Amino acid sequence: MKSLQKTQTALEILGVLGLLLLLAGPRVALAQELGDHQYTTDAIQTGSRIYTRECALCHGPQGDIVDGVNLRRGQFKTAQSDDDLRRIITAGTGGGQMPGFSFADAELSGVIAYIRAGFDPDGIAVRIGDPVRGQALFEGKGDCSNCHRINGVGPRTAPDLSDIGAVRTPASLQRNLLDPATAILPINRPVRLVTRNEETIIGRRLNEDTYTVQVIDSQERLRSLKKSDLVSYEISMAPSKAPTTLNSEEVADVVGYLLTLRGL
Ligand code: HEC
Ligand code: HEC
Repeated sequence: MKSLQKTQTALEILGVLGLLLLLAGPRVALAQELGDHQYTTDAIQTGSRIYTRECALCHGPQGDIVDGVNLRRGQFKTAQSDDDLRRIITAGTGGGQMPGFSFADAELSGVIAYIRAGFDPDGIAVRIGDPVRGQALFEGKGDCSNCHRINGVGPRTAPDLSDIGAVRTPASLQRNLLDPATAILPINRPVRLVTRNEETIIGRRLNEDTYTVQVIDSQERLRSLKKSDLVSYEISMAPSKAPTTLNSEEVADVVGYLLTLRGL
């Protein structure tokens, strides 16, 4: 058991080193790209001022005064995407209870950024794009459906995403796409096991206790193994996928799509 743990630790250290090397390059590019498209702290702070001046009277300082709307928590009546918010703030609501505003582009983006940052002037604003475009990216360019299963369709090698919109926040979904290495759930890590019968099992860890480990193997079978039957148990620290090749506009669309997945 002791040597098993040692192998594990050594592997983890190696993994982390590899990871650092791997990430040093793409990180820089990612940061630059984010600078171009993502809402900035500046935008959030502009939005904070405009919100106080133009919206707080009706919606309240916490955004929760209008029935059925909680702006800080991202709860709206009809709006889903940032484009929806743009349209509503510009045109007002149909019933005429909320007037339209003719903001400059930067002001409009600022208010949306402030809402998406949960009213935290120092927060990170999440961009939520168009769910329809997001679904097309999920199944096409993003390659996501090659690993993920939704509502019974797709492989089981990666977590099933059928209800991901109900269990994760927009912020954690965005982080998962932009920077999977920091978002990885430890339990989901890829593993490589060798049994006493010299069978090698490569898969994804689902669960583990002191004596057993459960994995989904590469043939998508659920396996439960006694640790005492293993001669080797390696856990990879590397993310099971590289940061996505989608740009931040596209990531926003995919996040918009994932948020619509709330189980059957
Ligand atoms: C005069 C009062 C008033 C002002 C000012 C106001 N709102 Fe509203 N807002 C409302 C009411 C009332 C509703 C609910 C509308 C309905 O049920 O048709 C609403 C709804 C909304 C919704 C949800 C719409 C949907 O269909 O999902 C958003 C988003 C919103 N407001 C944002 C803002 C922002 C941002 C500002 C400031 C730029 C603002 N509002 C200013 C009264 C106001
Ligand atoms: C090569 C296979 C692969 C591809 C391609 C892939 N993923 Fe994943 N994804 C995984 C694995 C494995 C995990 C779980 C382990 C981890 O977090 O790395 C995961 C985790 C996730 C999670 C977190 C699940 C949770 O329970 O929190 C989300 C969300 C996600 N992926 C979305 C996507 C989206 C969207 C795409 C396409 C842009 C994508 N993935 C592409 C393999 C993949």
